[in-house]
Amino acid sequence: MNLEQYKKAVELLNLYSYHYYVQDNPITTDEVYDKLYHEVLEYEENHEDDILKESPTQRVGDVISDGFSKASHLSRMWSLEDVFDADGLQKWLTKTYKLDSNISFYCEPKYDGASLNLIYENGELTQAITRGDGEVGELITQNVKTIRSIPLTIAHKDKIEIRGEVVIYKDEFERINEARLKSGEAVFANPRNAAAGSLRQLDSKITASRNLVFLPYGVGENSLEHKLLSQRMEYIYSLGFKKPPLSATCRDFDEIEAVYQEMNKKRESYAMMLDGMVIKVNEIAAQIDMGYTVKNPRFSVAYKFPAVEKITTLKEIILQVGRSGVVTPVAIVKPTNIDGVVVERATLHNFDEIQRKDIRINDKVIILRSGDVIPKIIKVLTHERKGNEVEYERPKNCPVCGSELLDEGVLLKCQNLKCEARVINSIIYFASKPCLNIDGLGSKIVEALFNAGVIQSVLDLFDLTLEKLLALDGFKEKKSRNLLNSLQNAKGCDYWRFINSLGIEHIGEVASKTLSERFGSGFIDAAKDEMVACDGVGEEMAESVLEFVRVNRETILKLQTILKPLEPKKREEAKENPFKAKSVVLTGSMSQSRDEIKEMLEELGAKVVSSVSKKTDFVIYGEDAGSKYDKAMSLGVACLSEKEMRDKIEQVG
Ligand code: IVH
Repeated sequence: MNLEQYKKAVELLNLYSYHYYVQDNPITTDEVYDKLYHEVLEYEENHEDDILKESPTQRVGDVISDGFSKASHLSRMWSLEDVFDADGLQKWLTKTYKLDSNISFYCEPKYDGASLNLIYENGELTQAITRGDGEVGELITQNVKTIRSIPLTIAHKDKIEIRGEVVIYKDEFERINEARLKSGEAVFANPRNAAAGSLRQLDSKITASRNLVFLPYGVGENSLEHKLLSQRMEYIYSLGFKKPPLSATCRDFDEIEAVYQEMNKKRESYAMMLDGMVIKVNEIAAQIDMGYTVKNPRFSVAYKFPAVEKITTLKEIILQVGRSGVVTPVAIVKPTNIDGVVVERATLHNFDEIQRKDIRINDKVIILRSGDVIPKIIKVLTHERKGNEVEYERPKNCPVCGSELLDEGVLLKCQNLKCEARVINSIIYFASKPCLNIDGLGSKIVEALFNAGVIQSVLDLFDLTLEKLLALDGFKEKKSRNLLNSLQNAKGCDYWRFINSLGIEHIGEVASKTLSERFGSGFIDAAKDEMVACDGVGEEMAESVLEFVRVNRETILKLQTILKPLEPKKREEAKENPFKAKSVVLTGSMSQSRDEIKEMLEELGAKVVSSVSKKTDFVIYGEDAGSKYDKAMSLGVACLSEKEMRDKIEQVG
């Protein structure tokens, strides 16, 4: 790659990224993107002086700061006056028309996230500042650069402040909370807190991992000359920023109200949380004339959506038992209508959360329901306690089978492998998509089969016959044959699916793939340290596998005989050599292709990685070795020429 090609490649990567992150409409595959990205990275490693500011490699989150410094906004960041119903809107309109009757309005979503000010100078993102007190905020430029929907450079050269909201999409929010629960951390109450918390991480890698999204809603200091806000916003979007899922210009109350109703109706289907619609006077000259009160612009108002948070009473806590025996508490609340849906249950996550929030039966609580977000208790109104609240006692026995529970602190577990709830849920899991993906064996069917007494474990699934099925209520010939077919089709599955389907605690899809690749069917005899040596497998996971195998060895073997999962291509454990278990970086051109050398080193048990750090054991260099070699030298990492590497390998024989 030469300089010209490098520039073209960066431009192309940014185009791909724009379509992916801003337009939500990818125009290439991850594979093509990754390949080009690595070529760009490689060029940059050898030509540090050529690195372009807009290169996607400049977003990499590897900056750790020890605190944020303060920075001033060039112009103040305001907040908005709220109205809550049509009456409030009408009053605001009357007030505004008095200032200027010849106006129209621009309507867009009120995003529920954290506000952010981006300063671009000479077309380059130079500062990103949190709202703070409106005058001064915190400088979080490095973190913000990891947000892919924020362009690092724009085609507007005058100094400009672009303002907007950083949000976390609802599905991403659920993903983060699930991970936090697993690691025993407190969950975020809502996507807004999650977004704000993610922005203020000292380690920008964490920010990068949170998949934040930026949605612009206006400008601060600027030299733009558009007459209308709608034109100005179109211009901002054209610079490479994301458009709102819905926006409109309106002439009067009726039109505004219609857009509001539409947005409220559609908001569940949007990826991000909205808490209302913002209405702004569209004529910029009129905006300037109207000016500001002490706190708010007079030309704008937030028309809030009906609450997604409601106060209700906690009536009872019931318990659900999952396939691994984990007992999860669920809150039963006094039925309450939240924006058209009657909510009767809310998740409590786990017993620690009950204690942490001091949730008691009969407490008044705030529950949140929004979009795909499962209703949850976000606050206990302790000041409303009357004395009839009852502290919740952690259960000692399984609510389904009655056996004694194991109390692990955060989690309570039913250890009875025959517990009905565990059995049914593990069969459902066994058949689910990331496991054996058995069509026609969803939760309802599994429950029906279990309750009819025809299956007591996953093994029994493979003893099902047409006669047995036809004897059951609701099983016609076609449905029965289809199910038997799907069960047949599960045979000869990939080995990792087999491991995953066992439902070993802490072992999900990724770990199943790792274990399968490393051990294949030998995983039942793998030792703890062998497992821990695998990337991404920790002690807890390895112990969980050992315990599972200890208890279920026979069943695993029987299942294996029935399913005949495919043995994966396996790498032999390398014999002792200087590269075994070492972290190696390759740089410069060598006598064979990089991939061939990488393969050879991996055969020897080395881990070949792309960048040099203190943890690197060897840098192996060919001709024209560039910055990786220099970096290795400066860090004192051992450098070997290709020949030295080959000599070392030969010595082992
Ligand atoms: S305009 C000139 N528009 O809501 C007024 N704000 O309560 C400045 N927000 O701090 C704000 N979506 O963080 C505006 N479409 C939108 C918004 C929006 C969300 C947030 C913003 C602001 C707060 C004001």
